[in-house]
Amino acid sequence: MPKDEINNLALRRELFFPSAEIYSSALAGFWEFGPVGQAVRRRLVDLWRKELVEKEGMVEIDGAQILPEDVFKASGHLSNFNDPIVQCKKCHSLSRADKLIAEKIDDIVPESLATAELDSMIKKHKVSCPKCGGKNFDKVKKFNMMMGLDIGATGDQKAYLRPETCQSIFLDFRRLYKNHRGDLPLGVAQAGKSFRNEIAPRNTLLRQREFGQMEVEIFFDQDKIDEVPLFEEVKDYKLNLWPDGAKGTKGISCSEAAKKKTVSGKFIAYYLARVQQFYEKLGIPVKKMRFRGLDKDEKAFYARETWDFEVETDLGWIELMACNYRTDYDLAGHAKQSKQDLSVNEGGKKFVPHIFELSAGIDRAFYVVLDLAFRKEKRGKEERIYLMLPPKIAPFLCGVFPLVKKDGLLEKAREIFNELNEYSFDVVFDEKGSIGKRYARIDEIGVPYAITIDYDTMKDNTVTLRDRDSMEQKRVKVEELAELLWKLQSEKEKF
Ligand code: GAP
Repeated sequence: MPKDEINNLALRRELFFPSAEIYSSALAGFWEFGPVGQAVRRRLVDLWRKELVEKEGMVEIDGAQILPEDVFKASGHLSNFNDPIVQCKKCHSLSRADKLIAEKIDDIVPESLATAELDSMIKKHKVSCPKCGGKNFDKVKKFNMMMGLDIGATGDQKAYLRPETCQSIFLDFRRLYKNHRGDLPLGVAQAGKSFRNEIAPRNTLLRQREFGQMEVEIFFDQDKIDEVPLFEEVKDYKLNLWPDGAKGTKGISCSEAAKKKTVSGKFIAYYLARVQQFYEKLGIPVKKMRFRGLDKDEKAFYARETWDFEVETDLGWIELMACNYRTDYDLAGHAKQSKQDLSVNEGGKKFVPHIFELSAGIDRAFYVVLDLAFRKEKRGKEERIYLMLPPKIAPFLCGVFPLVKKDGLLEKAREIFNELNEYSFDVVFDEKGSIGKRYARIDEIGVPYAITIDYDTMKDNTVTLRDRDSMEQKRVKVEELAELLWKLQSEKEKF
């Protein structure tokens, strides 16, 4: 969907909007989620928790967002977490050098290229300044994206806002492993905020300075990279792998990918399958997905193998998750800096576990889900806008509407609303305006069902249940409502 449509809907229905917007000093790259946006975002994280954390037997933590300087010395972020920037000599505006060139040549330009190489590409492709059109730039420089803080009354304790949620998972590993009943693998997850001083935040939620991540770090024994007890469940499942340099693939089964060494082992193939299945549950069609294998220039400094999970939208391919084989890079780095032993001893073998990481952006997934769910239809002279969100991530499962407020209908509707709440369904009550307007209001924010209490309800204890997508309606007995809603929500039954 064109991004203006999404942005208009977002502002109209308070899905998301700029932070500190009443001030002219509001900062770029910071966004707020309104009541509806927050509800969808929370459900999206809940679905991730269910599918990729709990079902996989992993544990979840909630770590601090501010960590001491030592952590980022060890992680390599203070020396390596840099973006190449370039300044226009005419208007002095700053831009990301790799992005400017990529836009000009319509191809991917690795941010890790040497600055001299980026300088010569700018000249060769006659790149111009996006602000003033000028073609003269200063030399490309590396800019560190960490956001620093001085902690304590004297400000002498240097610390940083975390640029990725996973660092506390590495720091907590020894404690978590001690309480883990059994051998590796051990999966630890965390959802929360990360912070990066992006030079050019843009496309609303897609490149922010403060953003949500939901990350999973799986600690394993590298000698057991082909030992996965549940591999049978995914062995024939096809992954949309685009190995580095490849322009497309027909889909390759997990067992083929592991056998042909397209991925390093069954362990990697298994989790990539779970990732693809998770995004399918968010309503993203498989044909719009790919895992793009990154080459050595594109990979992050800590990764041996990276598969970026990307989705095709009107804005091009958008990266939602980085699947990184981080080896023992992190634990070995923290062990060295902290002078602590972070190795394990299993079966008489002492080793530092390797890590496979599934690092997802919450807000990017949120944006892409909205983009793919957006529908605009002409119905005669009327225009209908609705979001075809899967019931599990819709802001509410259904609306409850009394047809009129008199003759006991309002009270009966409240009774049904309260009962559905008792069953823990997320329901919204609305008694204002015409019934058509009430339907339109919830359609626009993606609520899949509406229950209307009318005069027949008072006679035979039935209600009208309406489906958002088809707009079909049927009569349902009040005593059967909760079970039917549960089946519809869990997609065990179609409307
Ligand atoms: N721990 C690994 C890591 O953070 P990453 O590729 O830098 O890897 C992972 O980030 C995901 O976080 C991305 O795939 C994207 O969805 C999200 N993300 C990264 N930077 C972002 C930004 N500036 N704004 C919004 N989301 C971002």
